[in-house]
Amino acid sequence: MYVLGVETSCDETSVSVVKDGNIVLSNVVLSQIDIHKSYGGVVPEIASREHVKGITYVFDQALKKANLDYQDIDLIAVTKGPGLIGSLLIGINAAKVISLNFHIPIIGVHHISGHIYANYIEQGMEFPLLALVVSGGHTELILMKEHFSFEKLGETQDDAVGEAYDKVARVLGLGYPGGPVIDRLAKEGKEVFDFPRPMINSNDFNFSFSGLKSHVINKHHNMLQRKETIDPKDFSTSFQEAVTDVLVQKTIKAKEYYDVKQIIVAGGVAANSGLRKKMKERITDIPVYFPKMVYCTDNAAMIAAAGYFQYKKYGKSDDLYINGHSRLDLERRM
Ligand code: KG4
Ligand code: ZN
Repeated sequence: MYVLGVETSCDETSVSVVKDGNIVLSNVVLSQIDIHKSYGGVVPEIASREHVKGITYVFDQALKKANLDYQDIDLIAVTKGPGLIGSLLIGINAAKVISLNFHIPIIGVHHISGHIYANYIEQGMEFPLLALVVSGGHTELILMKEHFSFEKLGETQDDAVGEAYDKVARVLGLGYPGGPVIDRLAKEGKEVFDFPRPMINSNDFNFSFSGLKSHVINKHHNMLQRKETIDPKDFSTSFQEAVTDVLVQKTIKAKEYYDVKQIIVAGGVAANSGLRKKMKERITDIPVYFPKMVYCTDNAAMIAAAGYFQYKKYGKSDDLYINGHSRLDLERRM
């Protein structure tokens, strides 16, 4: 079964062709990062305009690279939320045009189910499994008892972990997106600051990163005022150690409580080298999987993979009235 995936929820215009849920025939990603960089973050209006400019080219390239025509496609899976509404609508409307023109069924996919299914592309899934979702907008622990069943065990009470990375990086003057830069600098610094590990011992599976973020920013501010030398490397190491301690500890707690067979990590922050290392060092009794780097940040292959399993479970659950949603519940897909 050939699934055409379409992803435009934020600042990446992406179209992909995936066969049977895990054979990636093409995955074209047009990133807008260089454009948004000068503003220190994604500007929604600009993102929508850039999607309009790139979408036709990206569709063409995805088909060409897969060596297929639209007539060969069995299903279109498009991200319907959550995300920037203007951006989502560009992908959804382009997908609708193809669906209508070539009589291909279309379904709307939850962006986070895509991040989770990025793991299926490389290594398959064994249930029950625990998914740690860490991206720019989400920090969640999710239990999956079978394909396309999501039970949220806990989530951030304030900032998402990627958001905290990006805000700390901005204050340190490291540019946007900050996650990859902090990750790189963290390898060269020392943990000289003992930053807090929020909610690490709380009696639930929730997270909080806003207090840690403020703590780091205040420390930086105080040092600036006292004209002390600031080494962004040491800040990066100390921040990353605190964040990853919490993420790993909470994952271990959920793993023990629910007795899962494997752990998968999903979302942009799954690219983090410190998180990858600490997870694998501290969890040795069951497999811990991370997607390949290209499937960690936003891409359409993961949407096609998720769409394949959603379609297998729920069939043709959408039609041409499909709409974009800036907020969307993963458990209820609405
Ligand atoms: O999943 P994603 O591409 O977009 C959302 O759905 O949010 O995630 C983007 C987030 C950004 O906050 C970015 O800073 C973060 O992922 N990120 C990282 C790394 N690579 C990307 N954070 C920490 N370490 C990284 N290596
Ligand atoms: Zn994402």
